[in-house]
Amino acid sequence: DRKFTVEQLRSKYKSSEPITAITAYDYPSAKQVDVAGIDIALVGDSAAMVVHGHDTTLPITLDDMITHARSVKRAVRRAMIVGDLPFGTYEESPTRAVCSALRMIKDGGADAVKLEGAIEPRLSAIRSIKAAGIPVMGHIGLTPQSINALGGFKPQGRNADGALNLVENAMRLEEAGCFAVVVECVPEVVTLAIRGAIDIPIIGIGAGRHADGQILVYHDILGLTVHPHHAKVSPRFCKQYAQLGDDAIVALETFKHEVVSNVFPGAQFCPYVMGGDELNNFV
Ligand code: KIV
Ligand code: NA
Repeated sequence: DRKFTVEQLRSKYKSSEPITAITAYDYPSAKQVDVAGIDIALVGDSAAMVVHGHDTTLPITLDDMITHARSVKRAVRRAMIVGDLPFGTYEESPTRAVCSALRMIKDGGADAVKLEGAIEPRLSAIRSIKAAGIPVMGHIGLTPQSINALGGFKPQGRNADGALNLVENAMRLEEAGCFAVVVECVPEVVTLAIRGAIDIPIIGIGAGRHADGQILVYHDILGLTVHPHHAKVSPRFCKQYAQLGDDAIVALETFKHEVVSNVFPGAQFCPYVMGGDELNNFV
């Protein structure tokens, strides 16, 4: 498959074809996302939570994110790789933001970067990153890096002022040069209003049916975050298309049972014999 570019994203948007995006953090997840034909593999800073076990996205570093991006890059043939700039790597100055974005592209192998928020100096940062030749995706609504200011993981834009503010933020991001914007956790009427106000694609998450595309977190969609011994649950807006966490536990329990009861490995999984022939190969 040919690489999915910003240009192809634009033409999908123009012809009203829904855009698909899923997060990916490592080689296997990225391989699955790419083979499934998903348009965008987002190396999300949600890795802090779903991979590293933190309660928020705040602790993950740019080095961590670059390691994730490099693993994703090795797996992907077609999908556009968008790398999140983590908390504390772009907010205070456009210069800092450009340095972080350049690292995400040069060291991480991402095709584009994403950052959260639509106030200065972030808008200038978006302009500067774009001027450096790097496409930028915006992110408004529930912006998890601002969790302490927002007061928790909760829906945004549920009153007139909040909704208007989101529409204005989306317009600012378009004006600053974003090629797309993630809108997270808002009533779908707000998404509709934003859609009417901008001419770049909206990638929605918990943002209803009127977005131009949908993104979900890999571990949420596959049911990897929900299992009996784990308190973390997927958000209400997430449809789980599999319960891989449960499947993994069953497989591991079965392995344990078979080892303690001397069923595994058994003759079938003892392939190597003295003397050596082709059956003595590793695979
Ligand atoms: O980090 C992430 O997973 C994200 C998506 C939810 C948009 O930013
Ligand atoms: Na993110």
